[in-house]
Amino acid sequence: MRRLTAETRLNPAGLVLPMFVQEGISEPVELDSLPAVKRHTLDSLARAAAEAAKAGLGGVMLFGVPATDKKDPFGSQAVAEDGILNRALATVRAEVGDALVVMADTCLDEFTTHGHCGVLAADGSVDNDATLEIYGAQAVAQARAGAHVVGPSGMMDHQVAAIRDALDAAGLQNTSILAYAAKYTSAFYGPFREAVACSLEGDRRSYQMDPANRREGRLETSLDIAEGADMVMVKPAGYFLDVLADIAATSPVPVAAYQVSGEYAMIQAAARNGWIDGPAALRESVLSIHRAGADVVLTYAAMELARECCDTCDCC
Ligand code: PBG
Repeated sequence: MRRLTAETRLNPAGLVLPMFVQEGISEPVELDSLPAVKRHTLDSLARAAAEAAKAGLGGVMLFGVPATDKKDPFGSQAVAEDGILNRALATVRAEVGDALVVMADTCLDEFTTHGHCGVLAADGSVDNDATLEIYGAQAVAQARAGAHVVGPSGMMDHQVAAIRDALDAAGLQNTSILAYAAKYTSAFYGPFREAVACSLEGDRRSYQMDPANRREGRLETSLDIAEGADMVMVKPAGYFLDVLADIAATSPVPVAAYQVSGEYAMIQAAARNGWIDGPAALRESVLSIHRAGADVVLTYAAMELARECCDTCDCC
């Protein structure tokens, strides 16, 4: 009866797996704070993307980790055709074609020596408008490499419009934009920053939102939709279900939510201690994100959840 009448179901097609690729390694690297997540080589990334397609996932979101000596204050490797993320996009597209939606993180933090999501002005503050130009060039490079979707995650004002204009001017009208629309400053990004070896000292409070603010989530999202976002995202997901529900109630475009690294790592850590049932907690947390209104959930548990679905045939 419960199976028949469930209001919400987990379905691999609605899940996106975030993946990391690192330049200059010959074997994948395990990540202490993110069990079951790796920094991939290009080869192992291609294999893992093929498995994701086979498991029926909806998409993958790629993040690049450049060699440390290739970082600079402008994040040039984000734009370079042979930058690690752009090479990874080409490799994954060649492997999976259109079997998965291939998404790219469009942001500079992995590529800059200072670790900020944008370039800096002389006084050390993040220069919003100078960053927009680079985001446009980065999105074009990512689309040319093979990204179906670019995902601006840097929370610069007007980033969606700048990227849409740059893509259109380059003849890339069919590349979609998943806007990190309501992205909050969060303590739950900790393991991710380890995963991408981010050099950030300080914080991102001058551009990411204050977790105290719910209405502001609606404002940021409506601005991104007006600028041409094809999908909008709330991030983190689990502690921002009110924001997510608000946005899902009125959004004219699909709504995504990102179960971020800290949310995933806490469940895994408690499970390792035998304090909670890990698979059940992952299932419940992602189901709750869907219940609150997300059409699409980005989660490091996407493969486990998809396998479970297929094993039980309970969801799809
Ligand atoms: C920025 C970006 C971050 C995450 C995704 N994109 C880090 C940040 O804003 O500091 C975090 C994702 C996670 O914690 O899983 N490029």
